[in-house]
Amino acid sequence: MSLFDKFEQIAAARQPFVERGIRSNVVMEKVISSTEAIINGRPVILAGTNNYLGLTFDPDCIEAASIAVRQQGTGTTGSRMANGSYSDHVQLEQELAEFFGCQYGMVFSTGYIANLAMLSALTGPGDILLIDADSHASIYDGCRLSGAEIIRFRHNDPENLAKRLQRLGERASNTLIVVEGIYSMLGDRAPLAEIAEVKEKYGAHLLVDEAHSLGVLGQKGRGLAEEAGVEEKVDFIVGTFSKSLGAIGGFCVSNHPAMDMIPLAARPYIFTASSSPSIIASTREALKVLKARPELRSKLWDNAHRLYDKLQGLGFQLGPEPSPVVAVRVANIDQVIAAWKGLLEQGVYVNMVTPPATPDGGCLLRCSVSAGHSPEQIEQISKAFASQGAVTQSMEVA
Ligand SMILES: Cc1ncc(COP(=O)(O)O)c(C=O)c1O
Repeated sequence: MSLFDKFEQIAAARQPFVERGIRSNVVMEKVISSTEAIINGRPVILAGTNNYLGLTFDPDCIEAASIAVRQQGTGTTGSRMANGSYSDHVQLEQELAEFFGCQYGMVFSTGYIANLAMLSALTGPGDILLIDADSHASIYDGCRLSGAEIIRFRHNDPENLAKRLQRLGERASNTLIVVEGIYSMLGDRAPLAEIAEVKEKYGAHLLVDEAHSLGVLGQKGRGLAEEAGVEEKVDFIVGTFSKSLGAIGGFCVSNHPAMDMIPLAARPYIFTASSSPSIIASTREALKVLKARPELRSKLWDNAHRLYDKLQGLGFQLGPEPSPVVAVRVANIDQVIAAWKGLLEQGVYVNMVTPPATPDGGCLLRCSVSAGHSPEQIEQISKAFASQGAVTQSMEVA
């Protein structure tokens, strides 16, 4: 037995990829715009980012970041608890709180850290985290850090959730339910109105991770809770700056007075350096753009529907509903690698997702659509899928 035995299993899982010439992560040799890059020396359309509003190259965001780096330096070199709270961090927290109509807002260094911080600060030994079975890794890791009892309910199944809460009896009041707005792998939404109703009935608490739904859903772009009309019933909303806001960072907004204690209780907030000034500045600008330009959201949805309809028309098996995450189901690892490489050769980059990262043990070619895509780019993406002819025929999942 050795310390490193565990890596043998990982190496074995990597082997099919190595045998097919995929040795490491894809390297973006040059990023040209929000939707184009150079990979393997060739121009490609980026159809596998989370750049939903296409803001990574927004001139106002770039300008705000440039000013901040010149005026405030490259990094804060400290935790929010110590020297890392600049007035811009606090202003962004206030702006987020205001945008969501909440009393409290907190900014974290990443979306991953936001989940770790909130879950581990809100719950501990003796409490219960009742999470959707298809939750993101950051939610699972937050659960582990908390020391709370972890119970999973069936994906997007409010009846199953209710059954579990009923079994918990009085412990329901010590329970935090965690769901996502849009699920990152298949692009499906949580049935949030029903989930919120169940939560109210049993007196539990509810946290919604709007990582993929901020700027995407809701009339004002606040996410699924807004779209479903249940913001009042959601206790905590978590989100990220790394998707529709085009930067990096995470946040939580809430009206719950417990928020006052989170900066003192959340180790992932206390024991890591705060976001650099340029990131905070571009995020503040991106939030302004999100609010001021709802047409970006309309364009995103036009593109999402167009790609979903085209790929469905070509006979691909997709996620359950149209969404900016368009997930193409592929039967096995051989086929997913062949199709992914074929797409790249055709000048289209998508995400290849294989077990255990997929919800039901299948493989996915996960496209994410951006408001930055032109109709021609959407056409090229679907043509590249169509040209995977032989593979297309065999992509039917049993
Ligand atoms: C649902 C969900 N929550 C949290 C995160 C983590 O966000 P970040 O990458 O900004 O750390 C992700 C990232 O993909 C996500 O999909």
